[in-house]
Amino acid sequence: MEKVRIEELKPGMILAKTIYGIDGRVLVREQAQITSIILEKLRELGLPAAYIKTDDDEQIKPDPVSETTRMDLIRSLSKLEAQVRSGGNVSFASSKRPLYDLVDEIVTNKNNLIGMTDIRLHDDYTFGHSTNVAVIAVKMGVLLDYNQLKLAELAVGALYHDIGMTKIPLEILNKKDELTAGELKLIQAHPETGYTMLRQNQDVSTVSAHVALQHHERFNGSGYPRGIVGDAIHEFARIVAVADTFDSLTTEKIYRHAKTIPEALLLIESKKGTDFDPAMVELFMKVIDIDKIASTY
Ligand SMILES: [Fe+2]
Repeated sequence: MEKVRIEELKPGMILAKTIYGIDGRVLVREQAQITSIILEKLRELGLPAAYIKTDDDEQIKPDPVSETTRMDLIRSLSKLEAQVRSGGNVSFASSKRPLYDLVDEIVTNKNNLIGMTDIRLHDDYTFGHSTNVAVIAVKMGVLLDYNQLKLAELAVGALYHDIGMTKIPLEILNKKDELTAGELKLIQAHPETGYTMLRQNQDVSTVSAHVALQHHERFNGSGYPRGIVGDAIHEFARIVAVADTFDSLTTEKIYRHAKTIPEALLLIESKKGTDFDPAMVELFMKVIDIDKIASTY
């Protein structure tokens, strides 16, 4: 499997991963042959790249999390955001079952994570991103020997770490120009907004809500909102800080291209002990299949 930039994509290539649009609907299915019509459509949609089949694909171990579970989570997040933005009742119930499935699948399937960063359209960022962060975090939790209950609490916190973003107007989130000081302040309030939203829901535990509150805190105290240091940051939030950064770096943004996985790993390694808990960085490196990545790039 190889990640090919949209400019280099050619008719005849075979897609190695399904391409999803907003709300998790399928745009082009895995195994489909790229045609000039498909290519034109993908360009129009602004897709940055696609995964293409190569000869050594048979050796790749499958992703530990099923496509169905990922899509159920993406759909539940999309539904939740619509509820928040329309001012209606907010319910976290629809993600409960797929979250349990996610934990079960990761506990059962010991495969490492590789190439699990889906390629998404820009505006699909939050849903796919949150799902990836939950997958990485739970995988790290398994290595920490967390029991099922703790894994479920971590999964909830990781999936909803950015839920506060749903309260920020879309004009600000999709703004291409530099943000004003006021807009930046609003965005940086998302951990506290998210915490408050999660605390209002009886199904969400306090520790899960703390992931939203503390995922931008940094190990050396340089983070926000409170600038707390080291172990004062909840372990779940120290896990999610690494997972969130990695998945953000490897995601295409409006204002910059995605980093490759090796580039993102180097950057995270360089921030061990400053931004991130060294133990969590080491744990993170174990869940990513470094050998396989080295041979892919
Ligand atoms: Fe965030």
